[in-house]
Amino acid sequence: MPEFTPVIEKDEIHRQISRIAKIISTDYKGRELVLIGVLKGAFIFLADLVRQLTLEKVMVDFLQASSYGADTVSSENIRLKKDIDVDIFGKDVLVVDDIVDTGLTMVHLVSHLERFSPSSIKVCTMIDKSERRKAAVHVDYACSTVKKGFLVGYGLDYAEYYRNMPGIYHLKL
Ligand code: IMP
Ligand code: MG
Repeated sequence: MPEFTPVIEKDEIHRQISRIAKIISTDYKGRELVLIGVLKGAFIFLADLVRQLTLEKVMVDFLQASSYGADTVSSENIRLKKDIDVDIFGKDVLVVDDIVDTGLTMVHLVSHLERFSPSSIKVCTMIDKSERRKAAVHVDYACSTVKKGFLVGYGLDYAEYYRNMPGIYHLKL
């Protein structure tokens, strides 16, 4: 039977999202921002974050990368499954992911997006998990930092399950 240990409660996640939404709204004040969510894990986080931004002009798009499959360890073989639709040339882009672990996915996605010549790219993640960091990725905005463990809930999955859990839990199989 899988065991779930609470790591971050739902209310705390919401407090942290409000906190970074204020910072992002200040940083991009008067500018147009394109949020690019990384499917599927970021869909809940992005939905909550975008509604707290006080910017007038915000676009939302998604891309999808795949590296885990039904495993808790990254295959380190990142594949782009879905590209963006919005034209980001000359735009300010914020990549929004659920969790940055090895950083390999984010580095891959950022270099992919750089090819479209946006005017800036920054990185926002719900959880910055530096335990297994392998790629030098600069995280500009993070809600929480978690040292280790495989996490589920609030968009994070294990083999596609548990994304709907309202808080974030450590999963022990
Ligand atoms: P990275 O390439 O190792 O940084 O991993 C990035 C992706 O792996 C994230 O966007 C997540 O979708 C997934 N991932 C990494 N750690 C976890 C975890 O603890 N739980 C669920 N998914 C994870
Ligand atoms: Mg992801």
